[in-house]
Amino acid sequence: MRVGFVGWRGMVGSVLMERMRAENDFAGLESVFFSTSNPGGAAPKVAGGDPLLKDARDLAALASMDAIITCQGGDYTSAIHGPLRGRGWKGWWIDAASTLRMAPGSVIILDPVNRKVIERAIKEGKKDYIGGNCTVSLMLMALGGLFERDLIEWLSSMTYQAASGAGAENMTELMKQMAFLAGECQQVMADPAASALDMEKQATAALRGGHMPTEKFGAPLAASLIPWIDRAVEHGQTREEWKGSAETNKILGREDRPIPVDGLCVRVGSLRCHSQGFTLKLRKALPPAEVAEIVKGANPWVRLVENTKEATLAQLTPAAVSGKLEVPIGRLRPMLLGPEYYTAFSVGDQLLWGAAEPLRRMLGILRGG
Ligand code: HSE
Repeated sequence: MRVGFVGWRGMVGSVLMERMRAENDFAGLESVFFSTSNPGGAAPKVAGGDPLLKDARDLAALASMDAIITCQGGDYTSAIHGPLRGRGWKGWWIDAASTLRMAPGSVIILDPVNRKVIERAIKEGKKDYIGGNCTVSLMLMALGGLFERDLIEWLSSMTYQAASGAGAENMTELMKQMAFLAGECQQVMADPAASALDMEKQATAALRGGHMPTEKFGAPLAASLIPWIDRAVEHGQTREEWKGSAETNKILGREDRPIPVDGLCVRVGSLRCHSQGFTLKLRKALPPAEVAEIVKGANPWVRLVENTKEATLAQLTPAAVSGKLEVPIGRLRPMLLGPEYYTAFSVGDQLLWGAAEPLRRMLGILRGG
């Protein structure tokens, strides 16, 4: 299989490369690396890899691939996918960008949750396989068991999204904001006579002073948060919030009888883990032990965390989960609202299950895995 990689140097692309190397995915592939900026340069060394970078805008070169995996972003997809299909290319297009997600001919891939939907699409001859929004994918990895049994009447997810979801430069800006804040407060923190309120005044003045780097986020994120992600759409939602319902139901293959999903999406000062607080209305009252069994049996990556302070602090934080494929879900309990209502909290690595992992697994499915 001849596979072209585009956008392999960016943040999601780098995580994809790392995972593919770790799983020995390159063995048996003819890998060709494309570049928008440096065609002719040296390609990364992988088993069976072409030594030189090809031009990512060369449609003829792209059209000689059996599959293309792109993490290059939506602008690249918009510019290349149409013309490539237009010239009759019938290969597999595997994409991390959101551009094609809702197109009727494309499938949103999250195989531990929708393997059947993917397999049906392959049989039907569909060729475009697109990674889902990170919060949606991580929510479905955590709650897949309840969805599979069609036990969820509706779901509200309040998110706590990491800087990585906004991009590599945003992640860097968050760290710069933290460093700036620490610098501004250094003196007051070193002064034994200063109170916590003195420190807070200094920090708040720094947050509002206009000198903190905020070019990417548009506001301070360090020591603060931003309850707005992406652009406004209808009904007062942001596009990130709209994706919750649209993508969940497309992934599950139930756009004809959608489960309502809605909530607020919030950017917080986490580096690469998205967290979410769920409110679930089940279709019927179920005992907590049964709900717990269903949740933890959904796939090999979901981990049910005991609803104790000790377990929560040790296992259910972005600090504990970053860089891991496990998707812990905890704080699971019935709510006082009524016997059908449950709450839970989950944390997941935005760059793994939220972005890169479904792409490499899709390639594995196409290779017969
Ligand atoms: N839209 C997500 C975010 C990125 O801003 O966190 C992953 O889909």
